[in-house]
Amino acid sequence: MVAAAAEQVVAGLREECATPAGRLDEVAAAMAEEMAAGLAEEGGSKVKMIVSYVDSLPNGSEEGLFYALDLGGTNFRVLRVQLAGKEKRVVKRESREVSIPRHLMSGNSSELFGFIALALAKFVHDEGHNTLFDNKQRELGFTFSFPVRQTSIASGTLIKWTKAFSIDDAVGEDVVAELQMAMEKQGLDMRVSALINDTVGTLAAGSYYDEDVVVGVILGTGSNAAYLEKASAIPKLEGELPKSGNMVINTEWGNFSSPCLPLTEYDEALDKESLNPGEQIFEKLISGMYLGEIVRRVLLKISLQSSIFGNVDQTKLKSHFILRTPDISAMHHDQTPDLKIVAEKLADNLKIIDTSLETRKMVVEICDIVTRRSARLAAAGIVGILRKIGRGNPNDKRKSVIAIDGGLYEHYTEFRQCLESTLTELIGEEASRSVTVKLANDGSGLGAALIAAAHSQYLK
Ligand code: BGC
Repeated sequence: MVAAAAEQVVAGLREECATPAGRLDEVAAAMAEEMAAGLAEEGGSKVKMIVSYVDSLPNGSEEGLFYALDLGGTNFRVLRVQLAGKEKRVVKRESREVSIPRHLMSGNSSELFGFIALALAKFVHDEGHNTLFDNKQRELGFTFSFPVRQTSIASGTLIKWTKAFSIDDAVGEDVVAELQMAMEKQGLDMRVSALINDTVGTLAAGSYYDEDVVVGVILGTGSNAAYLEKASAIPKLEGELPKSGNMVINTEWGNFSSPCLPLTEYDEALDKESLNPGEQIFEKLISGMYLGEIVRRVLLKISLQSSIFGNVDQTKLKSHFILRTPDISAMHHDQTPDLKIVAEKLADNLKIIDTSLETRKMVVEICDIVTRRSARLAAAGIVGILRKIGRGNPNDKRKSVIAIDGGLYEHYTEFRQCLESTLTELIGEEASRSVTVKLANDGSGLGAALIAAAHSQYLK
């Protein structure tokens, strides 16, 4: 038997993390309500509902050679994409991934952009001589996955950092101007023709291959969603309405919060000690950056209140972010009869050795509780968006496809399955026949290239 004190901690967690359908329904309703408030006026809601200036999605006719830069996590990627129109589509795609040194995520802006521009310049250099660009400037789509107040399709100021970034002097600045300056310093003659969020890129790339894609979601280190809204449903939209009658909205749902969210003492402590206390509450419940950290906090409490981990040195257990979401995913999916992988992960990451099978089962259950809550809340968020646009109900026969990208969705099978089954549970069997969720692998980079193509200076 697992010691009673430990069992109590897990029972408490199970109860506080519960997400019965009724509660998720409230979450979806609150999300839809906040979305409407965010569209009504600037600052109308914590859910920012950012106008992306992307008023139509790619249709396949895009042509040319475009660069993309995808910045938003611990790595950034540079891409070169050759688009060849409706029939041939993407004929060539090359990319390079570079990991961002930790100190640059909290240093200063010119260092970060300098580092990125250098890598970009090398990538461009490796293209060799290309006659296509003899008298022409290269063009780039910039995916910048943080909340940005867009001022046009190719400019926008950083509202705040999220995830593991915190570079004070960049807040309030135009991120395109910063990148453009850094590129010039590298002698790179390249124009940023579009600035987009990764969710917008995912939506764009998704709809490039399937015109029924109406929502783009990221479930990775961070979390967010973008969707196609009717321009007439955006009271805060200034000036002339776009000809298409539509506008892509970057919801920034990560900052959603509501009394109906199932918050625990672990979430509250995590938030307080985070880089951005009081912010990104929904994201802290659901995204990959935080799930392992929540589990670590639960395990620490168990170790403080019971002796089931034996006489463990708590130094590791007390280190923030030492248990990562891929670790809890590996433990959660452990199929070995004696939960060997769980034992290994506990020993390697947390110096918890010599656990009983009973204890290892308990650890798996903790991963399950935390991950199920995350997946079910993410599903409720998606339902909130579907409600806002009048889709995913028995009266709506249109097909609605939700394109999802991000490591959490792509690699964490239990998470993915739980999200998908929860979606069906919430909208019902009948409506779910017209709603599909699909993986839009690497959508954000391609999406940036596609939107850059649609806004190319050579089109006019
Ligand atoms: C950012 C969003 C981004 C999401 C996924 C969040 O932390 O605020 O802009 O889309 O992460 O990368």
